[in-house]
Amino acid sequence: MYVMGDEELAAVKRVMDSGNLFRYKDGEKTETDRLEDEIAAKMGVPHAIAMSSGTAALICGLAGMGIGPGHEVLVPAYTFISTALAPLAVGAIPVLTEIDESLTIDPADIEKKITPNTKAIIPVDMVGLPCRMDKIMSIAKHHNLFVLEDACQADGGSYEGKRLGTIGHAGTFSFNHFKILSAGESGALVTKDRTIYERARIHHDGGCVFFSEEARRQVVPFFAGLNFRISEILSAIVRVQLRRLDTILEGLREDKWAIMKAFAGVQGVYPNPINDPKGECGVVAAVLFDTPEMMRTFLTRCQERGINASTPIDSGRHVYTNWEPLLQRRGAHVESRNPLAGLPTIDKPEELCPKTLNILSRTAYISPIPQRDPSERESFVAKVREAADGCA
Ligand SMILES: Cc1ncc(COP(=O)(O)O)c(C=O)c1O
Repeated sequence: MYVMGDEELAAVKRVMDSGNLFRYKDGEKTETDRLEDEIAAKMGVPHAIAMSSGTAALICGLAGMGIGPGHEVLVPAYTFISTALAPLAVGAIPVLTEIDESLTIDPADIEKKITPNTKAIIPVDMVGLPCRMDKIMSIAKHHNLFVLEDACQADGGSYEGKRLGTIGHAGTFSFNHFKILSAGESGALVTKDRTIYERARIHHDGGCVFFSEEARRQVVPFFAGLNFRISEILSAIVRVQLRRLDTILEGLREDKWAIMKAFAGVQGVYPNPINDPKGECGVVAAVLFDTPEMMRTFLTRCQERGINASTPIDSGRHVYTNWEPLLQRRGAHVESRNPLAGLPTIDKPEELCPKTLNILSRTAYISPIPQRDPSERESFVAKVREAADGCA
């Protein structure tokens, strides 16, 4: 959410005045060190690494788990493409898995997609909706798989009282422009596992041992990493954003649940079943219609009333049928590094995860506004009701 104020400006000024934009400073705690401590404390885990993006956090999380060539990683067919690009970046194969009406990965399809090569699952808490983490963790345990939670769209959410991102072996957050916490770009990885942490830290910064005393003390031997370092300016902004987290979530949830009331008792429409309504983030008011035609009628009727409604099936980058690099098996910049080399191209993507496409084409979203005036809210909800009423 773009909720910014004087505190963020003051934080940026503090960094500029300090003369240090680099995440390390010998013998001193930097903004980034403090941000990592604060994320770890807020999430209740021992380790956090702030990075340049959520994508970087996914890649480093997989590297931390030792995922690489020959391994398969289950990813939902509805997510931002980055979730599927991350396995490719470490040389592994992303395997598309259906979602269910919770709009998150379907545990029943996870079981069907597991092969002897499967090494990890990346459940994604899409639009702030928690995955069915109890079931996913028990499947993972049974098959000896890692779970890397992609909570990039669910900063601060929870499942059965546990923060999203802290239930699996590691979890990721994004702080890009569109996310609950925003600094334009950046992200973070959290984990309770010391080895995953050390490996991920080296992968996120191949030069870390030259700059950080703590990195020199790591047990994991120094290997060739990359550079996904965050800048001090972004860390300073995210630190302020983190302090706003509870207020942002409160505002989103309040507006969402008011909007959801508009659909109560309307024929042919039902709220998306949420795996844990208390822990979801309020990023969207999501409803499913009995048919795609009804959903389209709803969108038209919303437009006529000046309501900004959308459908995930039109969201392009979040629907696997648009992920050309995967479908055309272009999994890297050169063929010798392409984990998908030799696999047949997917010429009929609609046959791969039809359940996902069906669900997305019957789903409509309205985006809650955390700062919406309560008096304005009432008339807005009445208009949504009017739009929904005429769809059956
Ligand atoms: C579900 C999901 N995963 C991963 C990412 C990647 O985050 P970033 O843009 O910070 O790299 C995003 C961002 O849009 C996302 O929505």
